[in-house]
Amino acid sequence: MSNSFYEHLFGIAGKVAVVTGGTRGIGLMIAEGLVRAGAKVYVASRKVDACHATEAKLSEYGECIAIPSDVSNVEGCTRLADEIKEREQMLNILVNNAGLTWNLHIDEFHEKAWDRVVDLDVKGPFFLAQQLLPLLRRAGSSDNRAVIVNVTSVNGLRPSGLQNYSYVAAKAGLGQLSVQMARDLMQDHINVNVLAPGLFKSKMTAPLFDTEAKEKALLAAQPMGRSGAMEDAAGLVIFFSSKAGSFVTGVTVPCDGGASTTS
Ligand SMILES: NC(=O)c1ccc[n+]([C@@H]2O[C@H](COP(=O)([O-])OP(=O)(O)OC[C@H]3O[C@@H](n4cnc5c(N)ncnc54)[C@H](OP(=O)(O)O)[C@@H]3O)[C@@H](O)[C@H]2O)c1
Repeated sequence: MSNSFYEHLFGIAGKVAVVTGGTRGIGLMIAEGLVRAGAKVYVASRKVDACHATEAKLSEYGECIAIPSDVSNVEGCTRLADEIKEREQMLNILVNNAGLTWNLHIDEFHEKAWDRVVDLDVKGPFFLAQQLLPLLRRAGSSDNRAVIVNVTSVNGLRPSGLQNYSYVAAKAGLGQLSVQMARDLMQDHINVNVLAPGLFKSKMTAPLFDTEAKEKALLAAQPMGRSGAMEDAAGLVIFFSSKAGSFVTGVTVPCDGGASTTS
């Protein structure tokens, strides 16, 4: 395979992307991969310091701009979209990655644990996509489709040992919302796909890794004996965003080393 054919298939250089929750964990992995592949990447998260640090870190590889934002409500989504609209005519890639979980015994699960998770994990992705549709529509064409990648979880596909009720509901909901949007945005040349991570090391999963013994046991229980890496999450988003992925829409791909499919 010549390099130019490889570029034709998987190249995303020059594309414009937004990654929510791009300042740490899986979002940072995706943002780093997109920047290193030559995309211009906007990352968004609430903490101003984390935004500055991420912009500085990823700018070593290419173009990264951080915009402090809260994408758990319509006002925050609109404000972020307006800032992007001021800077860009088109948007090729939207990654709705920011998410939050909450674990509590079923008898104690309360409204705040429900609302905070559902607001960020399923309401935000819908309204941010809605607000950015004009830019996504402008970017999408029959041979260069724009893409929305919604990050859910294998916990939204089947239950785990966790008692994360609002999280599984929100992630399963985001999965089905993605199929509906894939259908409705077909003629706008916008693909909508889902990346469903399995185990990745991040702040969200830090309690699972907080001792060496716990980490060892957890990794030993994974089919591939490891957790997810930057290349795993970023590689899938790059595939969805490239020519190679343009005939794929409305699908969920578990990114979990076979945990949800083979064990
Ligand atoms: N780690 C895993 O094993 C795993 C497994 C399955 C699914 N996932 C999913 O993958 C995604 C990323 O998870 P992670 O483990 O990387 O989580 P994480 O380490 O907790 O990172 C979450 C990111 O989202 C940002 N964020 C949180 N609330 C926000 C808000 N209201 N508005 C904007 N940004 C916000 C955080 O930055 P600020 O605090 O600065 O806002 C941070 O950048 C989530 O959707 C999660 O459900 C993760």
